[in-house]
Amino acid sequence: MSFIKRNYGWVIVSILAIAPLYIIVNMLHIDFSKGLIITLVKGSESDSATTLEMLYHITGEFAIRWMTAVLTCTPFFIIFGITNLYVRQAMGIATTVWSFLHFIFFIWAEGFLETFTQVNYVAGLIAVLLLIPLLYTSNRKSMKRLKSKWKKLQSLSYVAIFLSILHVAILDKTWLVYAIIVGTGFLIRVPFVKTKIIRLRST
Ligand code: HEM
Repeated sequence: MSFIKRNYGWVIVSILAIAPLYIIVNMLHIDFSKGLIITLVKGSESDSATTLEMLYHITGEFAIRWMTAVLTCTPFFIIFGITNLYVRQAMGIATTVWSFLHFIFFIWAEGFLETFTQVNYVAGLIAVLLLIPLLYTSNRKSMKRLKSKWKKLQSLSYVAIFLSILHVAILDKTWLVYAIIVGTGFLIRVPFVKTKIIRLRST
């Protein structure tokens, strides 16, 4: 019980990140009778979106929502004067899991080489690859080991969100809301604005 009390933020993020996997599992037909065969569950004829489109949609949306949430942590901390690095770490893991799931379904359906056929897929691929060093170094041990280099390395997340939003914008899907949230977050980080907010908060 005391674990939950101490880590409630981490626990909430984990539940929110894991729960939608249930929808994904329901879209797959997993057959162990001849080894492991996974196929898509066919939607009814009247369904407007195919199961594969829905898989891209759900995994892509969660990937970009979690990535936006991670980048909103620092502005949130600035405004409210609190810091919770564990919550940010959990959000980072959620971003990576959903982004990789999104890419894995793409490779499964279209093949790896298909990634290089469109600029927006390549932008997505670079974003996915950037998540690997970010995830690997999102802990206190790496923070201490890398010192000032750590911040520089973590700023790769700005490139990742930029490429992800670009990926979605080229696909002509919902992107503006994420751009506005992330953009506002960057404004709050500007030293002049940040100092003003901190001063306002402490008066
Ligand atoms: C190798 C990397 C990636 C590939 C190959 C890829 C591929 C795709 C494909 C095929 C679609 C569906 C397009 C359509 O319905 O017309 C899609 C949609 C989407 N992707 Fe990616 N993607 C990649 C990385 C990413 C990343 C890193 C993010 C965000 C963190 C992301 C977020 C999205 C979103 C939000 C959608 C729109 C979902 C919707 O509303 O239907 N993708 N992607």
